[in-house]
Amino acid sequence: MPDQGNRALVILGAGVMGTAIAVTAAGHGLPVVLVETDEDARKRAQGRMTQHFRHARLLGALPADREPAEVVVSAVPDAAAGAAVVIEAVTEQFDTKARALAQVAGLVSAGTRLVTNTSSIPVDELASTLPQPQDLVGVHFMNPTYLIDQVELVRGPHSSEAAVADVTALLRRMGRRPVVVRDSPGFVTSRLLHPMINDAVRLVDQGVATAEEVDTLMQGCLGHRTGPLRTADLIGLDNLADSLTVLFERFGDERCRPADLLLRKVRTGHLGRKTGQGFYDYKEALS
Ligand SMILES: NC(=O)c1ccc[n+]([C@@H]2O[C@H](COP(=O)([O-])OP(=O)(O)OC[C@H]3O[C@@H](n4cnc5c(N)ncnc54)[C@H](O)[C@@H]3O)[C@@H](O)[C@H]2O)c1
Repeated sequence: MPDQGNRALVILGAGVMGTAIAVTAAGHGLPVVLVETDEDARKRAQGRMTQHFRHARLLGALPADREPAEVVVSAVPDAAAGAAVVIEAVTEQFDTKARALAQVAGLVSAGTRLVTNTSSIPVDELASTLPQPQDLVGVHFMNPTYLIDQVELVRGPHSSEAAVADVTALLRRMGRRPVVVRDSPGFVTSRLLHPMINDAVRLVDQGVATAEEVDTLMQGCLGHRTGPLRTADLIGLDNLADSLTVLFERFGDERCRPADLLLRKVRTGHLGRKTGQGFYDYKEALS
């Protein structure tokens, strides 16, 4: 990574992932500017990060021998002008991401690496909208980011070797372990995991088993850590539906068409842990 000095890492989007990536970076000593366009999400960001820091410390997931660097929450991406790297973690919709990336591409100095944390959109589709497509690399951080150090690093056909090397160096400074994969919708992890969760949702909708029963079987019989429906609630049901839509539109595979029950939950605002209700109830945890 080029010498970063005191230049901040800029992260776009202060949702589930942006706040957790910010905590992971700051916990490893990297100052962060977290950019969020939605006022309510900006208000929630500090509380979310406090919770992430508490959780991470409890589980010994961040270096204990250093004070975290500062995280500044901002409504505008102006700090991108001086950033070493910009990580885009906005809503999983092509137009939203393309707009956010185009805006920072107009601000950054030449050679600033751009990272997209998309779950499913091919990096090259986003790179093709940029003036410097070689500077964009995909990094699929896991959730919760500070607990899962393995990440999927996606090399787009236009990502330069230097950009991949710089982003790899950044990830190592953040204590992450990248595996580099080729660009493809959903890469490896979302392409395998998201249709499986969608099938689990259909089983519940068809009355074959309850969410608890599906998760218990997947944990007890197949060694899944939490079960697919608790994982869905952790991801966020809106984000899962968006990611499945990306896969369905690119592969035409019916398994990827978001299940009716998933869409019904999104329509009623039951988005999982982040809203206190999904396949399970988390209201007590939020209060
Ligand atoms: N949730 C997960 O488990 C998970 C895991 C890995 C990757 N991802 C990916 O990370 C990205 C973010 O997902 P999330 O779960 O955090 O979503 P989220 O809905 O919780 O947060 C997205 C945030 O981006 C904000 N936003 C939209 N446009 C913006 C812009 N131009 N500038 C700044 N902020 C903007 C929204 O207001 C929202 O607060 C998505 O691409 C998602 O697929 C999610």
